[in-house]
Amino acid sequence: TGVFTYDPGFTSTASCSSKITFIDGDKGILLYRGYPIEQLAEKCDFMEVCYLLLHDELPNGRQMQEFVNDITYHTMVHDQLTDFYKGFRRDAHPMATIVAVVGALSAFYHHELDIRCPIDRNLSAIRLIAKMPTIVAMSHKYSSGMPFMYPQNKLGYVENFMYMMHATPCEDYVQNPILVRAMDRILILHADHEQNASTSTVRLAGSSGANPYACITSGIACLWGAAHGGANEAVLRMLLEIGDVSRIGEFIDKAKDKNDPFRLMGFGHRVYKNYDPRAKLMRETCHEVLNELGLHDDPLFKLALELERIALEDEYFIEKKLYPNVDFYSGIVMRALGIPTVMFTAIFAMARSIGWIAHWDEMISDDEQKIGRPRQLYKGHTQRDVVSISAR
Ligand code: CMC
Repeated sequence: TGVFTYDPGFTSTASCSSKITFIDGDKGILLYRGYPIEQLAEKCDFMEVCYLLLHDELPNGRQMQEFVNDITYHTMVHDQLTDFYKGFRRDAHPMATIVAVVGALSAFYHHELDIRCPIDRNLSAIRLIAKMPTIVAMSHKYSSGMPFMYPQNKLGYVENFMYMMHATPCEDYVQNPILVRAMDRILILHADHEQNASTSTVRLAGSSGANPYACITSGIACLWGAAHGGANEAVLRMLLEIGDVSRIGEFIDKAKDKNDPFRLMGFGHRVYKNYDPRAKLMRETCHEVLNELGLHDDPLFKLALELERIALEDEYFIEKKLYPNVDFYSGIVMRALGIPTVMFTAIFAMARSIGWIAHWDEMISDDEQKIGRPRQLYKGHTQRDVVSISAR
């Protein structure tokens, strides 16, 4: 009944209206609340970007201080939440653990929560942004068999995350400001990207009025896939598999072969048909981090640069407008920051949490929003009669 459009993969369907993020994929432009990503990456830190995505304006000094105080107040997780980790095998993928633990937040914050109330929604956002670094770092500590490190409220958001990831009770942990800034930039560049698969998943889940942490969990699950946030992990594994510049041609040929499912990971994007502006910034950050650590000859970085150069000169990639995306260089940066490969997508989830919750908030406060309910093109049997089991 009714007329509807068949659009698998939503290549031409706007599912909502939004004021948060703008992308011009042909020109390679990305704006958060109207501000170019390049300026935000240069002049702001992740906390300012979180405030901007949530509140539509950059904070002044006082607003920033209040926001940071609120976040800092909520960094600890309920002590009982720590027990959830122990139910998992140590070798579970951190994304599996994080999906479960963030989902479990809904069991801690549900009864008193009225999603129609802006104050409650804001508190949900603050709690999520505050607790994600703690939850992500705990998943890393658990899988490596090390004790959890509690958040330190004297530290900034990113410093605290690096501390919870890398510190141990046995020795002092020394922060490197250049590496902290690099992690901050990774968070800014991944913070939002309009109606991508995971954000659309959060919106769809939220459209029924479900608990916000349950909705965010659906976004984390969606992000895990290699076509989406899992690409950063896949890029690093691909670079390690290629191993040497002499084998690049072989892998480019594989990526072009229609009978081979292999794709060049970190290349191509549904919306960008030009260089992903985030990839440019990430490549710059990669240079900075490797120089700081004296790793300018890092073979993986050299391999990535050469792979990019060769792909961008190849007819197949030119014709299909396939350029490096944000994930192409982020893995090399995170590896240099001492982050294990299995944690890459978890860090993407931590960064994207602000985007997800800002979209959830925007959707719930939109009076025109209805429950998300796509239609389908039915290709199954026409109506038929059931034959009893003895006669089949
Ligand atoms: N390597 C080789 N060929 C590719 C690639 C690639 N990375 N990406 C797309 N193509 C080809 C694809 O085979 C298709 O060819 P044809 O028209 O002959 O069938 C054409 O380009 C269009 O691809 P598509 O799959 O129809 O495009 P899409 O918009 O559905 O997919 C994508 C976008 C990002 C899933 C895809 O480009 C891809 O799989 N890239 C590799 C994974 C990746 O890097 N993902 C991270 C995306 S950015 C971060 C994020 O959003 O999470």
